[in-house]
Amino acid sequence: MKRKGETIEQRLIKEKQLSDSIINSLPGIFCLYDETGYFLRWNKNIETISGYSTEEISKMRLFDFFDPADTDIIKERVAKSFHAGHGDVIGELLTKSGKRIPYHFNGWAVRFDDHTWFVGTGTDISERRKEQIKISETTRKLRDLSSHLQNIREEERKIIAKEMHDGMGQTLAAIKIDVSLLKKMIPSLNSDETQRIESIITSLDDLVKTMKNRSLELRPGILDDLGLGDTLEWQFSEFQKRTGIKCFFDNELRETGLLPTAVRTNLFRICQESLSNIERHSGATIVNSNLKRESKKIILTITDNGRGFDPKQQTVTFGLFSMEQRVVLLNGELQIESEPGNGTTLRAMIPVESD
Ligand SMILES: Nc1ncnc2c1ncn2[C@@H]1O[C@H](COP(=O)(O)OP(=O)(O)OP(=O)(O)O)[C@@H](O)[C@H]1O
Ligand SMILES: [Mg+2]
Repeated sequence: MKRKGETIEQRLIKEKQLSDSIINSLPGIFCLYDETGYFLRWNKNIETISGYSTEEISKMRLFDFFDPADTDIIKERVAKSFHAGHGDVIGELLTKSGKRIPYHFNGWAVRFDDHTWFVGTGTDISERRKEQIKISETTRKLRDLSSHLQNIREEERKIIAKEMHDGMGQTLAAIKIDVSLLKKMIPSLNSDETQRIESIITSLDDLVKTMKNRSLELRPGILDDLGLGDTLEWQFSEFQKRTGIKCFFDNELRETGLLPTAVRTNLFRICQESLSNIERHSGATIVNSNLKRESKKIILTITDNGRGFDPKQQTVTFGLFSMEQRVVLLNGELQIESEPGNGTTLRAMIPVESD
């Protein structure tokens, strides 16, 4: 509003002062520039942060505030933003002293004086960056820890399985032979005594079988002796025997030597968890599986013809999550395709170095 006795020029100067003080009070960076990047207006913060004077900035262009290596991408984003009327980019502001500060820039097109100008704002995201780096560092450490704990667990399982199979299993078998011999060596045994000894032999037989099964469940020795293909073959056939669910396993993998331990172990555990899910949740009657190598990747696919589920509807569950973590730790990928009524296909893909 024009005051009494005030000339139009005086009024315009006052209005410019008002808009300057508004612009200067804005947090972060504020500027008004044209398509070629020359500035019409900017706030004091730009001068304070960049270290350039008013005089210097009046001759500079937007792109001069960035590392020459980044200018092409900034120019491209600015051109696109002018075209679209709005745009944003994350980049590093280069100060006069050479310091780089990460900023989130936003820009909106405005029409003024028959020209299209861009109102640009910038927010310092150094703190956010630091937090992000901290979070990814912590995530990496947690992954390493999880992988380390998994390796320890697997090593322990291997030792216990071997101890059960070779140590305790063989000792029990030897006891059984001794008891059988003892029975033969004492011909004077009455029927009650004979029955008791036979009962001991039967219990020993059961114990040997249980030990063997538990040892195989912990970690089958063939995984380290014969390899992944033979182990999965055995796993599917045991599963079929136990559950009655028909399993077809197509092993296209020509294992000339053993695959890396981590690949063998994790694919075996993924198959174990997948079969446990099929048994518990699917109601399937048939399981089809395939193991192959394709462009430096080992791919294990397991498909069931059960009731399926909606993977997007899942709450936090650890079976599928642990499978995913196992492949992620090996830079691989886990795909789950399923929908209610249409069965489930799980595909684990793990990169391997050479053939
Ligand atoms: N083959 C499948 N067929 C049908 N539903 C499945 C199948 N696999 C997984 N699901 C569904 O996905 C859910 C999540 O599976 P996940 O293995 O993560 O957990 P869970 O088996 O319920 O528990 P656990 O942590 O003991 O494995 C299951 O509860 C089930 O509803
Ligand atoms: Mg499960």
